Amino acid sequence: MEIEMKRISRLFFSLAISAGLTSGAFAQSQKDWQAPDITKLPDDKYGQMVRQGMALMEATYKHIGPEVKDVSKRYAGNNLACTSCHVDAGGRKFGNPWVGTFASFPQYRGREDAISTTEERINGCMERSLNGRKLPLDSVEMKAMTSYLHFLDGGGTLKLKALERAADPVAGKLVYASTCVACHGANGEGLRRGKVGDADGYQFPPLWGNDTYNNGAGMARVTLAAGFIKGNMPSGITHLNAVLTDEQAFDVAAFVNSQSRPVKRNLEKDFPARKNKPVDAAFAPYTPGFSAEQHKFGPWQPIQEARAKGVYPLK
Ligand code: HEC
Ligand code: HEC
Repeated sequence: MEIEMKRISRLFFSLAISAGLTSGAFAQSQKDWQAPDITKLPDDKYGQMVRQGMALMEATYKHIGPEVKDVSKRYAGNNLACTSCHVDAGGRKFGNPWVGTFASFPQYRGREDAISTTEERINGCMERSLNGRKLPLDSVEMKAMTSYLHFLDGGGTLKLKALERAADPVAGKLVYASTCVACHGANGEGLRRGKVGDADGYQFPPLWGNDTYNNGAGMARVTLAAGFIKGNMPSGITHLNAVLTDEQAFDVAAFVNSQSRPVKRNLEKDFPARKNKPVDAAFAPYTPGFSAEQHKFGPWQPIQEARAKGVYPLK
């Protein structure tokens, strides 16, 4: 009995060690969080649609990316996958999960000041994060993606406490050089799986340049990017064993988001009800009295305080 116990505790010990070395095992260490198991889904019409949705989201570039052979299917403008940012196929806590997303729509959305549907929200990421165009509402791709969201039945990224100082891209550059460059590259270019034109996407997605999210995307906000990075990067960690401090996460997010990326036109039409515009949305119109730079890098508390007194960006 005692020997048996020792054997088991040794086994646990070696499991813990290997969990520390392989990224797959990390997912299981998140006991407070369980995404539903797709392998248990029957192979009926619904099951097939859900699986097709998951495949589209994990290999977006292969089905609707800018390099696919069928030109009419080139909906995305870059070679990211949805799951470049929605980690573990949308099942990772604080990795922008889709668990619970479906039930939260139709939803009031500040960006548009209107009620928005799941499909419209997906097209929000299509037009910004994927720097592309809308999927038709009746397309099989849209049906598959919404089916997958329906199947995943809580959310967002880590909410970090804002720094009292501005996030510092210069300090962030050093963090990038020590902790990110190995995968994402010296020019933020990432690492393609194959070669240009083969619609095979990236092993490590690009963080700036032409083939990544545009300046109107959620990830272009330093606070959102910092929370995502702290909870998920370097790839393999989770929020339970984060390696960056909050300060490092803000600084590296500031560095990444100060690099060039695609520009979305008409961003001033976002958030028509100006009071809903996030304080770190780094595009005009800005809160009167605060610079573009302060909106982008902070400190954000002074802007929050002005907002609380009713000072909002003008129309
Ligand atoms: C560059 C990173 C990135 C990529 C790529 C991306 N998204 Fe997102 N997505 C985000 C972020 C960040 C948010 C949340 C912040 C926000 O509201 O802007 C989000 C939010 C969402 C939401 C709302 C989630 C909720 O619970 O409210 C849905 C649905 C969604 N994305 C679907 C998709 C789909 C489908 C794709 C692929 C076609 C995709 N996203 C690609 C970053 C990304
Ligand atoms: C071991 C390789 C690796 C390292 C190191 C790494 N990443 Fe990532 N990164 C990935 C992978 C892979 C993804 C796609 C999501 C996933 O599967 O985890 C990703 C996704 C991202 C994304 C969202 C997708 C995009 O293209 O914008 C951001 C932002 C990001 N990483 C930033 C960072 C930052 C900042 C660091 C350094 C603190 C870092 N990463 C370190 C591998 C890595």
